Amino acid sequence: MTARIIDGKAIAADLRAAVAAETHRLISAHGLVPGLAVVLIGDNPASKTYVASKSRAITEVGMRPLDHYLPASSSETELLGLIQKLNADPAVHGILVQLPLPLQIDPAHILASIKPEKDVDGFHPLNAGRLATGLPALVPCTPVACIKLIKTVHDSLVGLDTLMIGRSHIVGNPLSQALLNENATVTVAHTFTRHLPELCRCAELMCVAIGCAEFIRGDWIKPGATVIDVGINRVSRGGKSRIVGDVNFAEAVKVAGAITPVPGGVGPMTIVCLLVNTLRAACMQAGLPPPAV
Ligand code: GUN
Repeated sequence: MTARIIDGKAIAADLRAAVAAETHRLISAHGLVPGLAVVLIGDNPASKTYVASKSRAITEVGMRPLDHYLPASSSETELLGLIQKLNADPAVHGILVQLPLPLQIDPAHILASIKPEKDVDGFHPLNAGRLATGLPALVPCTPVACIKLIKTVHDSLVGLDTLMIGRSHIVGNPLSQALLNENATVTVAHTFTRHLPELCRCAELMCVAIGCAEFIRGDWIKPGATVIDVGINRVSRGGKSRIVGDVNFAEAVKVAGAITPVPGGVGPMTIVCLLVNTLRAACMQAGLPPPAV
């Protein structure tokens, strides 16, 4: 038996079409063009690539991209000044400051300065707290993407024995909270967890976000389980470079019931979920009901 492959690319394409339709409806019915400000400080090559794909995705669905590039030498005060302007600008519905930031800037100060209603990354402590207390919140894009992918396999997550491996503020922690809000039974594993293979073997659903190439082996997986692999790791073997996940896919696909591939699983969904968050933020700020996506 081989696992069903969760086709993130196809699911993302359908969601992108729905986001584009909702965007056009907002523009024609209310004259509201959702605007997303993406701020990049410095010239980290990976960040430049991410920011370029975010801007392209925004334009493709008919939203307004408002990119800002600051030199790597910028001070915290300069960046805070830009965020104050974006917070006050009614054409800006979402603000995303690309991480990591240069060392002279404290990310906690920056993230807390973004107006929570415009925090499409969901990293502001107010949004993190709202998610943790089960209140409506802007939720980080990767956890939103994972929940949407899981729901293509499981109509309901109620009571599902779930193992979240990783507890970062960007993925593991908010995804655990989002899974709890779906009433899944959630165990969180991290660097100091003992007996990880045994824990894995009990999980009907496993979400992995640790940034370790092919760390999770096939014989750790419960037969028929759903596996969501958030990892994006570049590895070089035999002079060739390729992208792999945190799960050993070749082994896992023989045991799991459903699995996300890397690339082509969570990755393509994440940017579309940023568009969903921008749409939600724009509706919220205009006093309109939430979008139908
Ligand atoms: N850097 C890596 N992932 C992310 C993300 O989700 N949001 C932002 N702003 N920066 C990142």
